[in-house]
Amino acid sequence: MTKLSSLNRRDWLRASGFLATGLAGLSRWNPTLAETGSNPLATNLAFKREFYQASPPETMPKLRARLMANENPYGISPKAREALIKAVDIGNRYAWMEFGQLAKLIGDKEGVQRKHMMFSPGSSDILMAAAACYTKDKGTILTCRPTYEDLLERSQKFGAKIEAVPLNAAYEYDLDAMKAKIGPDTKMVYLVNPNNPTGTIVNPQKLEAFIREVAPKVPVFLDEAYIDFLAPNERPNTGKLVAEGLNVIVARTFSKIHAFAGLRLGYGMGQPETIKALEQYTNNDFGVSITTLMAGIASYQDEEWQNYCRNENAKARDYTAKALKGMGYEVIPSFANFMLFPIKMKTKAFEAQMWASGIAIQTRDFNGQPWCRVSIGTQTEMEIFVEGFKKIVG
Ligand SMILES: Cc1ncc(COP(=O)(O)O)c(C=O)c1O
Repeated sequence: MTKLSSLNRRDWLRASGFLATGLAGLSRWNPTLAETGSNPLATNLAFKREFYQASPPETMPKLRARLMANENPYGISPKAREALIKAVDIGNRYAWMEFGQLAKLIGDKEGVQRKHMMFSPGSSDILMAAAACYTKDKGTILTCRPTYEDLLERSQKFGAKIEAVPLNAAYEYDLDAMKAKIGPDTKMVYLVNPNNPTGTIVNPQKLEAFIREVAPKVPVFLDEAYIDFLAPNERPNTGKLVAEGLNVIVARTFSKIHAFAGLRLGYGMGQPETIKALEQYTNNDFGVSITTLMAGIASYQDEEWQNYCRNENAKARDYTAKALKGMGYEVIPSFANFMLFPIKMKTKAFEAQMWASGIAIQTRDFNGQPWCRVSIGTQTEMEIFVEGFKKIVG
């Protein structure tokens, strides 16, 4: 795991010339969204469908490195697998009392109670519920860009405006600039930590101070999808802020370190009245299957597996960053299971050539610059990525 203190982003940025150019020209990143018709809830699904079904299956090259969706390449914990298989036998029952077991584990770790929690199939449902709930009276959602667009796209579809300030020169959320933008129309602040697509984090003390100052005025939504990639002692203690009564909503997912992207499990923490309000916009606990839930309970307790995945991710991430630097590329130091770096080719051509050689990645255009966002796969996948990248960029 890269140590927080060992990073010098300023040097990196100076060397790469980004401080000189600044972020003034930062344009809003907008994924190539499919036309989704009038149903605002369809936005996310349509985007994902478009992304994965870009080519008919028979024309798809054999995927050698699946590095486009920030998935966990190591799979679920062996203990989760065992629990999942065992739970097949109770698949005839609604998951009901079993939520209490997971709630107890989360409560013990985070210092919150059952009334502060909600469960969902992945955290996407919580993002969607917040978008629906906090845009009832239209208004503005405040954030930094580039960031994860789901909640923002949905809020817009529900009629809200998005006020996005650029990330700071180190590609981190700019808390001061955000604070300056809070006004009577601001319905919610959305903050992704670690941020997607940059992989950068907000300093934990600064984040806590920000929440203490802002949450009494406007709800703060913290999207912590990638928080488990930080060592436990490097994470901000956001559960404590919920327990204290601050108006902060924390969204967590099992999709990343727990490798449940396909199994689907997530949870939210917030004030009891907020949780009740958000639950009006979800299927509540009914969205989570008993098999997934039982596997989640096992996975949550399997710290050995989480540590293994975190360490393997850090090793493969370091390897990739070094290899790219060796080729003269500057990489934004990442705290998550993906990294972003500027490329010297047009995004579409780059993506298509990588895809044709069996390597799936994502690209972005912002700040007048094409970027590659590559998820961190296994060491073998990253070697395939580096070799493929070398061939394509020459
Ligand atoms: C920042 C962020 N938040 C939330 C999600 C939603 O993931 P899931 O619904 O699988 O929990 C993702 C998915 O990649 C993400 O990157």
